[in-house]
Amino acid sequence: MPLPARALSPAPPDPILGLSEAFRADPRPSKANLAVGVYVDETGTTPVLPSVQAAERQLVDANPSRTYLPIDGRPGYRDAVRSLVFGAGHEAVASGRAVSAQTPGGTGALRVAADFLVQAGNPRTVWLSQPTWPNHTQLFTLAGMEVRTYPYLDASGRHLDAGALLAALRGASAGDVVVLHGSCHNPTGIDPDPATWRAIADLAVERGLLPIVDFAYQGFGDGLREDAAWVDALARPDLEFLVCSSFSKNFALYAERVGALTVVAREPARAESALTHVKIAIRANYSNPPAHGAAVVETILCDPQLRARWEDEVAGMRARIRSNRAELVDALQAAGVPGDWEPLRGQRGMFALLGLRPEQVGRLREEFGVYVVGAGRINVAGLTRANLPRVVDALGAVIAS
Ligand code: LMR
Repeated sequence: MPLPARALSPAPPDPILGLSEAFRADPRPSKANLAVGVYVDETGTTPVLPSVQAAERQLVDANPSRTYLPIDGRPGYRDAVRSLVFGAGHEAVASGRAVSAQTPGGTGALRVAADFLVQAGNPRTVWLSQPTWPNHTQLFTLAGMEVRTYPYLDASGRHLDAGALLAALRGASAGDVVVLHGSCHNPTGIDPDPATWRAIADLAVERGLLPIVDFAYQGFGDGLREDAAWVDALARPDLEFLVCSSFSKNFALYAERVGALTVVAREPARAESALTHVKIAIRANYSNPPAHGAAVVETILCDPQLRARWEDEVAGMRARIRSNRAELVDALQAAGVPGDWEPLRGQRGMFALLGLRPEQVGRLREEFGVYVVGAGRINVAGLTRANLPRVVDALGAVIAS
């Protein structure tokens, strides 16, 4: 039997990227793609950032050799990423107890993290927020971990239930992994406040848990440093944790697959030792990372002028997402669409969770050509002046019925 039997009955399409395929095949001109988390501008295009174009010009002129990168990637990139995450001169970086490896995107960082943990022995149980990005569940399960969930939202679906979150994590066992979204929680747009971050960190220390911070949207919430507010709570000498960074969104480098895994240990020697195991996970998966995207990110972060330009560009994307949120809430309220929409205005990042039933999500797609994920997660950046009225009408129709 050449192929395993299971491979012969087709798997369902990916709950997010599969929708992009369906969207492309949809001939209706009035269709609206609010599914995949990709930033688009008012024309519906994902821009190439001018800072990226300038860095690429420099790289073309320098014409660097295409020999293999080190297993853990470009040294300058790894340094630049740590300063971006923790802030320049942060103790965890200066002391050497935070070490990084370049990875293909944030998903690559998560998979390397999972493989590293499984291959290093324990732990085998990972706690994910309910709801979370669907690929978390698939990724950690396929890496051989047992997935458990902690509640995230209160009964209204519009606010964090910090008490329930902490109560669930109190039931975790020493050595369990807890995945936390650093900012712009996917799919809810609702983040813990500083007091909740501190409570989570206290609990992680008390119960001996290992946090993994999935940090895919730095700069899309309140600002590059503001979105790293969790660092103040977690980066304490008695807590070890991992950070999975993605630069798909904030550099709009989706197709280049740029990310990083950072291991923060109590002491530099523990971090260095962990990195040797991370390198085995990388070598066994894809040998060493792709060069181009990381070279672009490093060039921008290390050149003061390009960096200032990039920070402005991130601020521009953030401002557009914010104003889209406000326009959506205003339009839903003005149209009298039933629901408590006001909290969406203050949420962060690309996503808002409308809280729809599967048949409503199906009707949005089939009758109105409006593509959304799961329980009504929309990519707020995908709203434009042209599609907003149609989206609001469609929501009104499926929610009212
Ligand atoms: C999303 O959640 O839509 C993005 O993170 C893209 C992806 O890979 O799923």
